[in-house]
Amino acid sequence: MTDRTLVLIKPDGVARRYVGEILGRVEKKGLSIVALELKTVSRELASAHYAEHESKPFFPELLEFITSGPVVAAVLEGPRAIAAFRQIAGGTDPVAKAVPGTIRGDLALDGQQNLVHGSDSVESAEREIALWFPGLA
Ligand code: CMP
Repeated sequence: MTDRTLVLIKPDGVARRYVGEILGRVEKKGLSIVALELKTVSRELASAHYAEHESKPFFPELLEFITSGPVVAAVLEGPRAIAAFRQIAGGTDPVAKAVPGTIRGDLALDGQQNLVHGSDSVESAEREIALWFPGLA
């Protein structure tokens, strides 16, 4: 089944110059990049994107972080793209969950500054793609 997922390379990934490394891993996996943009995130977009985490204690810090510098937003397409990207990203906690060989397992230490975001379901992907790339069909 071909699907689409919304991926972010977060401010830490851009600042650490991992854009090429991360997009390279995406392409090596076989996923297609169908939209790509470097952008600075407004608090409005960040709040909408992370709406499901609004009640979490780390939400204010998460908004500060995600708006702290440019991010790379991408839409990836391919067979089981949502699961495939989450597989190569590794778990949210780069040490406790992400295993070596994954983006987070190889390149990150922090549970918040964990380099990438990937949609977690078809419903999330549709909602997030509409938020980040409203013009995309
Ligand atoms: P992401 O996959 O973008 O989804 C929500 C984000 O919140 C997550 O990656 C992390 O950046 C952040 N996050 C999740 N859990 C925690 C936590 N316990 N403390 C701080 N930040 C977190």
